[in-house]
Amino acid sequence: MLPKEPGPIGVFDSGYGGLTILSEIQKALPEYDYIYLGDNARAPYGMRSFEMVYEFTLQAVTRLFEMGCHLVILACNTASAKALRSIQMNDLPDMDSSRRVLGVIRPTVESLGTVTRSRRVGIMATTGTIDSESYPLEICKLYPDIRVWGEACPMWVPLVENNEYNGPGADYFIQKHVNGLLGKNEGIDTIVLACTHYPLLLPKIRHYTPDGVRIVMQGELVAMSLKDYLQRHPEMERRCTKGGTCYFYTTETESKFSRLAAVFLHKPIEVSHLVLE
Ligand code: DGL
Repeated sequence: MLPKEPGPIGVFDSGYGGLTILSEIQKALPEYDYIYLGDNARAPYGMRSFEMVYEFTLQAVTRLFEMGCHLVILACNTASAKALRSIQMNDLPDMDSSRRVLGVIRPTVESLGTVTRSRRVGIMATTGTIDSESYPLEICKLYPDIRVWGEACPMWVPLVENNEYNGPGADYFIQKHVNGLLGKNEGIDTIVLACTHYPLLLPKIRHYTPDGVRIVMQGELVAMSLKDYLQRHPEMERRCTKGGTCYFYTTETESKFSRLAAVFLHKPIEVSHLVLE
């Protein structure tokens, strides 16, 4: 039986990247309580199959529900691309149809309508997100006139996770993929950073991106969309507790998580270990 009383908002990511989304959510909605869960022991998800990402994400969502969350944000593009739809359609009705799971792709895509003038957009993401075609499909649903090109950047997450995102090695891989994407169509005027780790690479991405090409980041968009969602759904808003707390959980060791989490959050945090199965 899942707890019925109001609880925190759950934020799930394969690892650390969702912390960039969590920070923006907390900035926009500081009054709520949050639980952040990173499946660091099994990250990255970017190269994993649909089946594995779905299975792992469902385990995490179930655990967050058991911990009292009524609303869970999948703050991970790969999980949003590969697991969200199945969980919403097939699992939620059996688990508790009043609970909700939201992802990061829809709010990102919604913003594009007013951002691109040339109606040509580039997506930079993990191999899993690019292969899933979730972005082009979602963009086509909302804005059929926008054309989309994707560039998988498999080295970018490891650069961040190994704290090499400021180093000279990062320049090589960032220039390679920015040029790779923009070389696919010269009319691209908007690049979407469709992976939660990429905001840490922003200064270098900007450096290699010509002026006039806009770079869209997700954190603020997801936060604004969540704010809007809570205003439009008072029945869910009432089920989210307000105490301004945030508890962190990881499937990795606590010491490893808190060391790298400080890079993302610019402050030390306390974290607890849990096992997902
Ligand atoms: N959080 C993932 C995403 O946004 C990146 C890390 C991973 O591959 O697990 O796609």
